[in-house]
Amino acid sequence: MKVDVILGLQWGDEGKGKIVDVFAPRYDVIARFQGGPNAGHTIEFDGKKFILHTIPSGIFHPEKQNVIGNGVIIDPYILFKEVDSLHAASLKPEKNLLVSRRAHLILPSHRLLDAAYEVSKGKEKIGSTLKGIGPAYTDKYGRTGLRVGNLTDPGFNGCYSRLKERHLEIIHQYQFDFVNYLIDGLPFDEYEEVWLDAVKRLKEFRFIDSEYYLNECIAGGKSVLAEGAQGTLLDIDFGSFPFVTSSNTITAGTCAGLGIAPHRIGTVYGVFKAYVTRVGGGPFPTELHNEQGDLLRKAGHEFGSTTGRPRRCGWLDLPALNYAIMLNGVNRLIMMKADVLNVLESIQVCTSYEREGILSDKLPFDLGDETLHPVFDTLPGWNTSLDDGVGFEALPENFRAYTTYIEKATGLPVEIISLGPDRTQTVFRKGD
Ligand code: GDP
Ligand code: IMO
Ligand code: MG
Repeated sequence: MKVDVILGLQWGDEGKGKIVDVFAPRYDVIARFQGGPNAGHTIEFDGKKFILHTIPSGIFHPEKQNVIGNGVIIDPYILFKEVDSLHAASLKPEKNLLVSRRAHLILPSHRLLDAAYEVSKGKEKIGSTLKGIGPAYTDKYGRTGLRVGNLTDPGFNGCYSRLKERHLEIIHQYQFDFVNYLIDGLPFDEYEEVWLDAVKRLKEFRFIDSEYYLNECIAGGKSVLAEGAQGTLLDIDFGSFPFVTSSNTITAGTCAGLGIAPHRIGTVYGVFKAYVTRVGGGPFPTELHNEQGDLLRKAGHEFGSTTGRPRRCGWLDLPALNYAIMLNGVNRLIMMKADVLNVLESIQVCTSYEREGILSDKLPFDLGDETLHPVFDTLPGWNTSLDDGVGFEALPENFRAYTTYIEKATGLPVEIISLGPDRTQTVFRKGD
């Protein structure tokens, strides 16, 4: 069996969580491969809404196994807030959630470092979610981080204290006033206490060598779905650096983040919004700084699932979409939130970039360069509500034309269209 992948083609929040939940019944195992609690994946069904940060979005299907892979970084405190919210809904994640021993831990002092680095950057700050992502991955690559598998080591407490002290020295150098800084509403000492309690609880979960587990599943004929976090334009190598996250969010990240060989990758589903959003700093050439942008934000409830920050909104960017399709080897497209465009008379789409009279359909290295201008096509809107129950062919002509336009521009089928946050508000095409 091959491993199929669902990942984001823009700056995150494309709706990956909803689609993983919709796809979960078709797979045996759902595995997250990178990122950490910077992610916020929203799942809605039966009038209930859940936001997952670390736990894979297949968790609502008790018969499916969910795996937090080695490429993920875990904050045990945040993980248990998720676990508790699932318990409150009578779910038992300890029964169908496995955790890689190789996954790194986010320490409370990583969160202080994240804040210290952001403050020191002033106006150039990345707009990090302040979950400690950059510092925890830095310790992974610096070969000083602690992993889930270390939790059962007799020397864990000593290693934890030494790493924390190292972090506090750096924080001191940055002259960051950590004593008055609150982490999730708590002073550092109190946060550390609840974090250490969560570490004890983490041991209730099954720690596994997930690379063996997953490869044995594949060999035994089980199907695996890999769930990405963030989006391609936030990838550490190919995103709008330095305004990116600290992991490989692309398909290649699946191999490293789960221990899957490249030839095991099957279908790659690329999830994109019918427009674009971005939360945090960094370039966004098709951003709308006007009432149309406000309209999209309002209609799409574009406020961060993790931080509640308003998301910046803009038009679909085809050079960026095609770049993401190329990097990920996307086979099938999934278009989200087209219903948000219902309010518009006309829709714009960026088809290329112009600089000093020269047009290019490639995404440039210096996306923030002020001499770079997006070139737009204007398409008629459908300006009416879209019924998710009637099938694609019965949807308004202008909506179908928008979809076909994207298919032509990308050379890929838009096989699934999402028209609302609920599981059921999903239109399948071509037998999917
Ligand atoms: P993720 O991080 O990629 O999983 O996406 P988020 O959950 O952060 O953001 C997507 C938001 O859009 C969530 O609030 C979803 O409930 C919502 N959503 C998902 N699909 C649709 C859709 O087709 N239409 C509308 N209106 N909302 C959607
Ligand atoms: P999901 O999985 C949207 C953004 C942050 C910031 C930058 C770096 O829900 O799509 P970090 O905390 O990683 O150091 O932040 O990346 N960012 C996201 N934006 N969706 C996400 O995840 C994101 N995860 C990080 O806003 O600009
Ligand atoms: Mg999100």
